[in-house]
Amino acid sequence: MDQPIVTLRKLRSVELRTTAPAESTDFYTDVWGLAMVERGDEGAWLRGTGDEHHVLQLTAAEQNGLGRITFAVATPADIDEAARRLELRGVPIVAGPGPTGEISAGYGVSFVDPEGRVIQLLADAYAVTRMYRQEAVPVGVTHVVLNTVDIDAAVAFYRDVLGMRVSDWSEHQMAFMRCNSDHHSIAFNQAEWTAVNHVAYEMPSVDHFMRGIGRLRHHGVSPMWGPGRHGPGDNTFSYFSDPAGLVCEYTSGIAQVDEDRWLCRVWRRVPELSDTWGTAGAPSAEVRAHMAGVPDDGAFGTRPDLRELARR
Ligand SMILES: [Fe+2]
Repeated sequence: MDQPIVTLRKLRSVELRTTAPAESTDFYTDVWGLAMVERGDEGAWLRGTGDEHHVLQLTAAEQNGLGRITFAVATPADIDEAARRLELRGVPIVAGPGPTGEISAGYGVSFVDPEGRVIQLLADAYAVTRMYRQEAVPVGVTHVVLNTVDIDAAVAFYRDVLGMRVSDWSEHQMAFMRCNSDHHSIAFNQAEWTAVNHVAYEMPSVDHFMRGIGRLRHHGVSPMWGPGRHGPGDNTFSYFSDPAGLVCEYTSGIAQVDEDRWLCRVWRRVPELSDTWGTAGAPSAEVRAHMAGVPDDGAFGTRPDLRELARR
């Protein structure tokens, strides 16, 4: 079988297309705890306390959706090799390989997955100095959950092309995939249409996680679901809606996978496994509707010609 195109090192950043760019930029900086890197008419770039140049890019759009997911790759040579292998596999490339010319600089290549999501592989982007803050603010983005119309096809693509591994299944409803020792950087959720389900931000500890929830309460923002602790991944969770209705999560304590010892398991979807503390209860219809989002064609929206190419 063909080798994966690349070795992914980590999830760097997520771009969201948002119907409320100004309000959401204020929310993610003033309330959520990210810091402004740059703000323009069409959106904003925001960072956490970690060493990524930015972790969230907000782009003005008529419909909410996923703009792009960016993963770190070691070197420009790896990017060139990944591009060569993408071409061999017939995966459509939409930018690069080459210098990105973007705000975080670096050398990258962007391609389209079978459901129109744009994935960017990026090396040599600007590093920034870590911030040491007492406040309960996110380090960065730690995972993205994606609604898919075909979970087996999605898992196969991210496993075979990108070399990700399945850490656990939640029955045949969700698949948690890793690219490093974090239990998951991406998870897929079987759904009626393609959309971004939520983006999760890492808090350094359970204490930071709880204090972050407290700060949001003082801003009049209550969790839609949580706080609680998930079975698969063992991470804490608390889900909120941003001003555009996109779902954001505070999380902490993600399980660390030892590649030599980890056994993938299939979790039953029962309350004591999806809410191990018993504090969160079942997700409400409201949070489920937010997580379902609106049908998102991604790159196929502006480039319908890519649809056939990406599915080959
Ligand atoms: Fe999550």
